[in-house]
Amino acid sequence: MSFSQRIDNALTQVIRRGQAEPAPGKLASCLDYSVSPGGARIRPTILMSVAAACGDDAPELTDAAAVALELIHCASLVHDDLPCFDDADMRRGKPSLHKAYGEPLAVLTGDSLIIQAFQTLAIAGQIEASRALRLISILSERTGMPHGICAGQGWESEDQIDLRAYHVAKTGALFIAATQMGAAAAGQDPEPWEELGSRIGEAFQVADDLRDALCDQAELGKPAGQDDLHGRPNAVASFGIEGAVTHLRNILGGAIASIPSCPGEAALATMVRAQAERLTPVFATRRTVPGE
Ligand code: IPE
Ligand code: IPE
Ligand code: MG
Ligand code: MG
Repeated sequence: MSFSQRIDNALTQVIRRGQAEPAPGKLASCLDYSVSPGGARIRPTILMSVAAACGDDAPELTDAAAVALELIHCASLVHDDLPCFDDADMRRGKPSLHKAYGEPLAVLTGDSLIIQAFQTLAIAGQIEASRALRLISILSERTGMPHGICAGQGWESEDQIDLRAYHVAKTGALFIAATQMGAAAAGQDPEPWEELGSRIGEAFQVADDLRDALCDQAELGKPAGQDDLHGRPNAVASFGIEGAVTHLRNILGGAIASIPSCPGEAALATMVRAQAERLTPVFATRRTVPGE
């Protein structure tokens, strides 16, 4: 079964669990709305790729880890779009959740997804308790304070923001969780996997900053020009377009070299190269901001 089928099947099961009787109907619908149709599912795909490179000897645990990670990501998007954060009306080509269902249900949907993520890992403890505990520990570290998404979003309320600290916490955190949880699900030490996740995550956010500056809403399926609008520090403002592309290439260049030694190292390097290509070429050819 492909990674994407495994992710979708496991995600469907978890969402159905949240929608079981006596769930309130609208919030139950919101759970579906927030996870499907999904985006690129890049974080759980990386997690599964690392688990596969490490032998993937407990695939059910890997599936649970992948779903937990994607649930946290989806929750972060629902909360990120709220008027008190980015006030974004569109996500993945459709109205953002609070636009479709209202703010109270959007807050509750994000909360429910976060709880379901950790519940999924707790239930997976039946498969292999010590690995599941490690997964809970990694995911909580990369979701909360001081290293997780909460910290990343929290930087936006500071007067002075360090771009790298902001990017690493806002976006890098879940990519570090992806590589480390992939290793941990397969029973390997997660520590050596931090750099790979951090590099892919930072590159991903630089690419997102470039897309935010260079693309339009129709291409993105979410509002463009947001960094400028909200005065957020971003790679394009810091380095310019050319400089951001160079920065992106440098970060990705070191990613392959940072892959820890493991049985599936070569296949993983191919996956990282494919992701790197997906992130870079569009920007190398388009150099002007729409409207300029
Ligand atoms: C969007 O992440 C948020 C950022 C960290 C830039 P993705 O681009 O992975 O979102 P989806 O899941 O594919 O929609
Ligand atoms: C998203 O950051 C990272 C999260 C913690 C959700 P952005 O606000 O830059 O991402 P988009 O552009 O809305 O997807
Ligand atoms: Mg944001
Ligand atoms: Mg946003």
